[in-house]
Amino acid sequence: YMSSSDQKKKVLITCTIPTVASDYIHQRLPSSRYEIEQWPHEDTMSEEELSKKIVDVEGLYCILVNKVKGKVLDNANKLKIVSTMSVGFDHIDVKECTRRGIVVGNTPGVLTETTADLVLALTLATCRRINESAEAVKSGEWGAWKPEWMCGKDLHSSTVGIIGMGNIGRSVARRLHAFNCKILYTGKNEKRDLPSEWKAEYVDMNTLLSTSDFVLPQCPSNDETRGMFSIDAFKKMKPSSVFINTTRGDLVDQEALYEALDKKMILAAGIDVTTPEPLPVDHKLLTLKNLTVLPHVGSATMETRGRMALLAAENLVNGLEGGELRHRVNT
Ligand code: DGY
Repeated sequence: YMSSSDQKKKVLITCTIPTVASDYIHQRLPSSRYEIEQWPHEDTMSEEELSKKIVDVEGLYCILVNKVKGKVLDNANKLKIVSTMSVGFDHIDVKECTRRGIVVGNTPGVLTETTADLVLALTLATCRRINESAEAVKSGEWGAWKPEWMCGKDLHSSTVGIIGMGNIGRSVARRLHAFNCKILYTGKNEKRDLPSEWKAEYVDMNTLLSTSDFVLPQCPSNDETRGMFSIDAFKKMKPSSVFINTTRGDLVDQEALYEALDKKMILAAGIDVTTPEPLPVDHKLLTLKNLTVLPHVGSATMETRGRMALLAAENLVNGLEGGELRHRVNT
């Protein structure tokens, strides 16, 4: 004998999400057929909690801090769809999901422009020493106007190297073109469909590192990119160069970044992503004056987070109800 709740499909939402998205989910997945559990606490569930809760769940709505791999997948006896409210999917073992017939959906597109805005904001904040300047006002370090005080480095008319000319890379390049920058890029393939007025030049990684004034990875984290910014990479960069990482912290060997900044192998860096996140407040990276650290806010506008949440909700619902996902990671 099965009680009616045993026959209902279980859905798990791992965190608090914008109401537009939870309303959408509750409307489309009626309580007569679905049992929807949403983690009620402000912080998302731990890996331990997720691996317990995943048992019997068919639809999972998650965010990038939920590791959907290893033990979590081993316990996922009924899982059909993983919908992540992020464009990145390095927190999900997609290969293993595919092997188990689990569909994975993500949220590309809707965050592209917002993230590109943040890339420019962090780049400008770093090269124009915005944090240091604002701090100087508060600390009383601001004295009379001086010709060489708080001087930074120009972004406009500089050479910028972009690693990965995907959606976000292109939106960044479009902004940089308006700043009169020379655009270099590298990646798996030369892109033949870039606007010709950008005059973007496809180069190899070594050329990009050794000639760029600004080095901007815009690629996902995967086996090919993880640890890409080692001490060797920083050594190839110009002492006057600026490094900006808005992708994933694990692209960077943080010991190497510390050394590169401390020993002035590069001029400055700005990072929106770290290992771990959050970065402990006593982390030695935070002692560097030439490093600006932001707390993973690339897509953080109310409009964009709403769009991401809703898109992830649509992916979840379509995955459970047998429709096509708006964006599917595995085929
Ligand atoms: C993503 O979507 O992968 C970002 O890291 C958060 O917007």
